[in-house]
This record gives sequence, structure tokens and C-alpha cells, in this order.
Amino acid sequence: MAVAEQTKKTENGHAAAAATPNATYLQIQDVVKDFNGYKAVNNVTLNIAKGEIFALLGSSGCGKTTLLRMLGRFDTPTSGRIVLDGRDLANLPPYDCPINMMFQSYALFPHLTVWENIAFGLRRQGMAKDKLVARVEAMLKLVQLGKFAQRKPHQLSGGQQQRVALARSLARQPQLLLLDEPLGALDKKLREETQIELVNIIESVGVTCVMVTHDQEEAMTMASRIAVMSEGRILQVGPPSEIYETPATRFVADFIGNVNMMEGTLTEDHADHAVIECKDCSHYVGHGITGSEGMSMSVAVRPEKIQLQREMPTSEFGSHNRVQGTVREMAYFGSFTVYRLALASGATLKVSQSNTDRHRDDALTWGDTAWASWSPTAQVVLTQ
Ligand SMILES: Nc1ncnc2c1ncn2[C@@H]1O[C@H](COP(=O)(O)OP(=O)(O)O)[C@@H](O)[C@H]1O
Ligand SMILES: [Mg+2]
Repeated sequence: MAVAEQTKKTENGHAAAAATPNATYLQIQDVVKDFNGYKAVNNVTLNIAKGEIFALLGSSGCGKTTLLRMLGRFDTPTSGRIVLDGRDLANLPPYDCPINMMFQSYALFPHLTVWENIAFGLRRQGMAKDKLVARVEAMLKLVQLGKFAQRKPHQLSGGQQQRVALARSLARQPQLLLLDEPLGALDKKLREETQIELVNIIESVGVTCVMVTHDQEEAMTMASRIAVMSEGRILQVGPPSEIYETPATRFVADFIGNVNMMEGTLTEDHADHAVIECKDCSHYVGHGITGSEGMSMSVAVRPEKIQLQREMPTSEFGSHNRVQGTVREMAYFGSFTVYRLALASGATLKVSQSNTDRHRDDALTWGDTAWASWSPTAQVVLTQ
């Protein structure tokens, strides 16, 4: 499984991870962390390949930091094991620890210059002076902060401080880099820019990276694969596009991005198609469903996969996959507009339309009646 997923990474524009068989580099096997009877990490198994940027994504308190701390050897699992490059972390001597963790607050030394901050760990390690100088210079170049070498952290922007922290983490050439909410301290715009910079730096070094975030956009843009976590467990693992387009459960569909979740009943089930009836509309599904007629299930449709028009749409799917509603709310986001349609049952349908024209005479507005429609490939049928 892991190998097929890694090869997809190139399609996302990330550098390809080693796609050789047995490419598992970091194995997390049945790991549990119990705090006085509460399982903060509850039987997690994950296989991560060399060179991957792997994201643990979940809301606050789901156990991300606890898992990361065990990977960083700040804590030990209650049960299960963690194997890095064939070696059990429990048996690795402390001085032979090729792992570096970068914390949410960068914890830069405020009284030291950028140069000295990066050199700090290398000095402690007793690295020879000429080698140390070369390494610090290389790190400054890597994060493009050569000009700022003699500044103190408070004389840098948040994004620059973040890069110093990264340079310091990478200076000792770790085999495994752990990032806990790496961009949490930055504002939205800076965070978006820094996400890409960070990925470029990590990939140019080739270090295997596990990052933790509660921000799904961050996980999507940075990671080759994402593990969605909830209450100490992993719900789904896959490349960002797979998690977004084919969520396995209602929870994942709802957690990642925006979605219209429609509850319904399977009313027709054939080998080549099925029909699910919901309160306001019915869905034509282009494949059979393993279930029996009368079974309840949900249909998830992303807002951007729905079309809006004034006239009733006609399609090969007859009266399926369309619904009429009244525009109750509109929110303009510049490149797109989000409409909230009130349906007959009182339910709301979110529709997002990209604004390809600057001005349209026939643009929908509050109170207008409109038809929403979507293709069967836009739907995801969820039974759990
Ligand atoms: N040292 C600890 N002792 C007891 N409970 C802890 C400890 N560390 C974390 N927890 C609990 O474990 C759960 C997961 O915490 P954490 O891993 O920090 O979540 P996240 O990083 O996903 O926000 C939380 O309910 C937290 O209160
Ligand atoms: Mg945390």
C-alpha cells in the first residue's frame, strides 16, 4: 500500500519518495500511550517511507503531540514499538539519536545571534571548529538567511524566526525531523508562503519528516501523505487528494474541507448503478453498493462540485442529482462565492462557484430561486 501511495506523491508536485519495495523507514506498530487509564494514543500503526513529509492531522487533544513526543523519544509508549531504519527506538542509545524535534514555539535563544542559535547544538556535540563553521554557513544558505546571521531573533519576522528554528533542527543532519504545529505562530498569509518554503527546504535536504497540525490546508499543501486522527486513533491514511476526494467515513469527509452531507436510504441497488433517496433530492450512483435496499447511508458532495443555474437542469440522470432551493446567504471571497440554498425540508445546501467573470447581469442574488445539480462522480457514498 505504502509504495503505491508514495509514487502518487510526484503527481502532487512533491519530490518522489523512494519507491523501492520495503521502503518503510519509520514503523509505528500498535503504539499505545496511556495516561492514568486514558489512552491518548490508542493503538496506532503507521508505516512511513524515507523522504516522506507525513502529516498527523486532527483537532486539538486528539493525541498528535503525544505521538510525536514518542517518535522524538521524549516519552516512551505504554505498549507497541517504534522502529526507525530497522532499529527499535527503545534500544537506541541516547547519544545515537538521529531525531530532531522542532517545537511549536521555536524556542530560539533570544540573547544569541542567528548564527549562534544554529551553531548551538553543534558546539554541544563538540564538532570541530572548521566543520562547524561550514555547517552553519550551509544551513544559513539553505534557509536563505545569510544576510541576517548577526541579528538576534527579535530583529527577525515570524517567518524568518521559523526558518532559523528549522536551520537549527537540520544542522545536526537528523534522519527524522519532527515538526509540531510548525507554522502555528504565523498569520495566515505568511503561513501560506512559509508552507511552500518549508517543503522545498525539507525536500532539498531529503530528511524524512513527520509533522503535526490541526490545520487541514497546511497538511494538504505540505504533506505527501496525511493520517487523520481522532481520539487517539488513526481514521484514514492517504495522499491529500485521496483523503479529500474519497473520504472513508463521515467524520473524515466532514473534517476535511467543506461538504454537504445528505442522509438517505438505498432504494435501488443494481450491479451497475444504485439510487439513494434523501429528503430533498435523490442521487444516482454509477456503481452498485454493497448493502441492501432500505439501508441508511450518507451522500457527501463538496460545494465546489455543484453547479447553480436558474433553469431546471436536464441530464441523463433524469430527476436525480438536482434540487431546487432559495438563495438565503451569499458570501463573496474574491475568487469564488459561496451560496447557501434553503431547500424544501429546511436543510441548507452549500454551493461554491468560481468567479470567472467580473460582472454578470444574470448573477444570482438573495431570495432568488435556483437549481443545483451535480454529477454522480461528484458524490461520495458513506456507510460509516
Ligand atoms: N502528560 C500527560 N498526562 C496526562 N494527560 C496528558 C498528558 N499529555 C497529554 N495528555 C492528554 O492526552 C490527550 C492528547 O493530548 P495531545 O497529544 O497534546 O493532543 P494534540 O497534540 O492532538 O492537541 C489530551 O486529552 C491531553 O490532555
Ligand atoms: Mg499538540
